[in-house]
Amino acid sequence: MTSESPAPLLAIEDLHVSVGDREILRGIDLTIAEGETHVLLGPNGGGKSTLLNTIVGLPGYRVTSGRIMFKGVDLVGLEIDERARLGIGIAFQRPPAVRGVRLRQMLDVAAGGSLEPELAEALDTQLNLGHMLERDVNMGFSGGEAKRSEMAQLLAQMPDLALFDEPESGVDLDNIAVVGSAINALLKSEERISERRRAGLIITHTGHILEFVNADVGHVLYSGRLACKGNPLDLIEEISSHGYDKCVECALCQTLA
Ligand SMILES: Nc1ncnc2c1ncn2[C@@H]1O[C@H](COP(=O)(O)OP(=O)(O)O)[C@@H](O)[C@H]1O
Ligand SMILES: [Mg+2]
Repeated sequence: MTSESPAPLLAIEDLHVSVGDREILRGIDLTIAEGETHVLLGPNGGGKSTLLNTIVGLPGYRVTSGRIMFKGVDLVGLEIDERARLGIGIAFQRPPAVRGVRLRQMLDVAAGGSLEPELAEALDTQLNLGHMLERDVNMGFSGGEAKRSEMAQLLAQMPDLALFDEPESGVDLDNIAVVGSAINALLKSEERISERRRAGLIITHTGHILEFVNADVGHVLYSGRLACKGNPLDLIEEISSHGYDKCVECALCQTLA
């Protein structure tokens, strides 16, 4: 490999994933370079969350063939915490409640030690967390609080690849703006790609989050495959006027296929 073409941060090759005895992902190829923000669109049940959950290594998502190369290491077979230590983080769509673990403790773990006081203060200011820090993670959190807690954990971890599963779902407009600015703080999506280091993959069903976050590349996951690739805003416009079925048939996709 030459110095002009460093290995991409993430390179997924012909990935097949089954849950139980059902094959959900049927040959995914996806490459994300350092600094890039990608968006994943697609109808409900298409396998978007399955892809993210498989990358982080949640149990139950069985890779039957293919590879997930991250920083040149195949993630398949690594434990979830090993993947986190390599630099992968996720904000779940519906994060589970964790009884007996306070948000402050979770943030310490995410930060890999003890959260620096300056960062704790910045997180409080940016995400309005103060009143949540001593509460058990996600226990009785509102939709907006749960999303802010997810964002705080990612900002404490500062992963090289951040995965966001429908960050706008279940939150009101004010909270979408807060979540959007947290994503920007992480990915620096307002700066030129050459200035950025971290990469992101954002699942969005509605595209609302793209009013707050700049994305470089969009993909449509349809029937377990990436059916289309293009400018994220163009894809969303196409999908809102014609639906997913027409989107994957469109001329643009045919030329890219
Ligand atoms: N843990 C699981 N157990 C059983 N089925 C699952 C699980 N995770 C995903 N699936 C199934 O995989 C399919 C794809 O789901 P998902 O990845 O959540 O789609 P999306 O995020 O695109 O809406 C669905 O049919 C879903 O029911
Ligand atoms: Mg999903």
